[in-house]
Amino acid sequence: MPPVATENVAPDAAKSDTSAPYLSTLPANDFSWQITLAEKVVAITGANRGIGLGIAEVCLANLATNVYSLDLMEPGEEFATLQKRYPNFQFIQTDVTSEESVEKAINHVVEATGRIDGLVANAGMTKHQPALKFERPELEQLFNLNVFGAYFCAQIAARKFIELGIKGSIVMTSSMTSYRPNRAAPSAPYGATKAAVRNMCHTLAMEWSKHGIRVNSISPGFVRTAMTYYVETAPDWDLKMQYYGGMPRLADPRELGGAYVYLLSDSSSYTSGIDIPIAGIVGAW
Ligand SMILES: NC(=O)c1ccc[n+]([C@@H]2O[C@H](COP(=O)([O-])OP(=O)(O)OC[C@H]3O[C@@H](n4cnc5c(N)ncnc54)[C@H](O)[C@@H]3O)[C@@H](O)[C@H]2O)c1
Repeated sequence: MPPVATENVAPDAAKSDTSAPYLSTLPANDFSWQITLAEKVVAITGANRGIGLGIAEVCLANLATNVYSLDLMEPGEEFATLQKRYPNFQFIQTDVTSEESVEKAINHVVEATGRIDGLVANAGMTKHQPALKFERPELEQLFNLNVFGAYFCAQIAARKFIELGIKGSIVMTSSMTSYRPNRAAPSAPYGATKAAVRNMCHTLAMEWSKHGIRVNSISPGFVRTAMTYYVETAPDWDLKMQYYGGMPRLADPRELGGAYVYLLSDSSSYTSGIDIPIAGIVGAW
């Protein structure tokens, strides 16, 4: 197990904050420099299917000790198939819109494994319809899950990292729609939630760096999941792809996994507050 410790403590910085020791993320002298999640315990919200499940698979393939899916729905066949290959992939029923539920899940992870090293705030939803049609309850639902859910998951995980003296890593799933409109499936409120997710990482990264906690986001383009099943069925899909300007296909969720692994690993010790767009060169939208 990696040390739950205060090595690399910068004494001067520690003096300025008595609530917790300053944890430098500088790797120890004997750090292996291999990009790996060996000995790491990672919790991923919404990993029963889709992008979360893809991230889980790549974390497990890169030697994570335990990966937990914190999801609202019961696991299905895809989850069971991955769990058969990796019995250290587990499910904790969690509603990320409830702080109580998230806190219980994180405590469960720590009781079972003695630690938690990474939190991926990935659970999210969308709703596509013309901007003129949106009603307040629809916006509230999107913001409650995508923004409030991600914020409180990060806050609860960060409190646990600080309590345990662990230099934890938080990664949030934003979206390319946080940068620009998605012409194939427009949703102004969804884009706003994802911009909020991407933006909050900057300040969380700044505030929590003194605790050795890093916070980053990833912005996927089109990924083949239940959320996007319909985009390829659009009659003008082929034409859209012709003018796409990038890779004319949807991504397999696992194609995002390497970036999550990197950000969750100790190899990214000087990487915080950034977003990694993974979108096959989204072009002429
Ligand atoms: N699919 C894409 O092309 C795409 C692109 C950019 C960003 N994203 C983002 O990636 C993330 C995952 O999307 P996906 O395509 O895999 O979607 P998905 O619908 O396939 O999976 C979402 C998962 O989140 C879970 N979930 C929903 N509400 C929850 C709650 N309250 N508590 C806990 N879990 C909950 C669902 O049960 C499901 O397992 C989302 O944040 C989405 O906005 C997706």
